[in-house]
Amino acid sequence: MRINLKVWRQTGPGQTGQLVDYVAESVSPDMSFLEMLDVVNEGLIRKGEDAIAFDSDCREGICGACGFLINGVPHGPDPGTTVCQLHMRRFKDGETIVLEPWRAKAFPPIKDLVVDRTAFDRIIQAGGYTSVNVGGAQDGNAILIPKDTAERAMDSAACIGCGACVAACKNASAVLFTSAKINHLALLPQGQTERSRRVVAMVDRHDAEGFGSCSNEGECEAVCPKEIAITNIARMNREYFRAMLIASD
Ligand code: SF4
Ligand code: FES
Repeated sequence: MRINLKVWRQTGPGQTGQLVDYVAESVSPDMSFLEMLDVVNEGLIRKGEDAIAFDSDCREGICGACGFLINGVPHGPDPGTTVCQLHMRRFKDGETIVLEPWRAKAFPPIKDLVVDRTAFDRIIQAGGYTSVNVGGAQDGNAILIPKDTAERAMDSAACIGCGACVAACKNASAVLFTSAKINHLALLPQGQTERSRRVVAMVDRHDAEGFGSCSNEGECEAVCPKEIAITNIARMNREYFRAMLIASD
């Protein structure tokens, strides 16, 4: 396959960026999208040009490092799929593909397709943990949890923190991410001790980082590679009101 690429190139934070045309030759349909970019970059390096910067780590859909807009869609056209798991067989020979970074005020650009997502780290630092001693693995196994609750907690915990939900949202809201991180702890016995403090601190941090509010567009759920349900947001709102009521007792 021969693929025409229009790639956002930006040398650094605060610099002016632009779409630059490249041609990826001899692309195998079995290549992953990132492998195709690796080949393009090898060609650029051989010519003495600057390689296209993009994030990746595990390349198997579990770390959340990868992600950019492919023809305007975070992680590209396949539902429930990170860009590292997307394959070139999904595209046609001769197709033109536009690559851009996540665009949100709270994710400032670093270079090319790489943005600074440390705002997510600061939301986790605000409360996405348990600081009580919950014992070792055997103690965790000794605490009986209803299967339905364990499943719902696991579904929320599946969020990999990629930021696609923010990129898809017209408000650049990160509440799908924040709610998933709050709920997976709020559902489990180990998360009860700090439950009220956690939700208030994490929601306040979310707002302070410059992410927008939720207006129930549903774009976040549609593009999430881990198919995190939008019902997490409703549950987070209930958690927040519960914390407010306890504080006003
Ligand atoms: S909720 Fe989904 S899209 Fe948002 S950060 Fe988590 S895995 Fe990525
Ligand atoms: S590189 Fe880890 S999820 Fe894509």
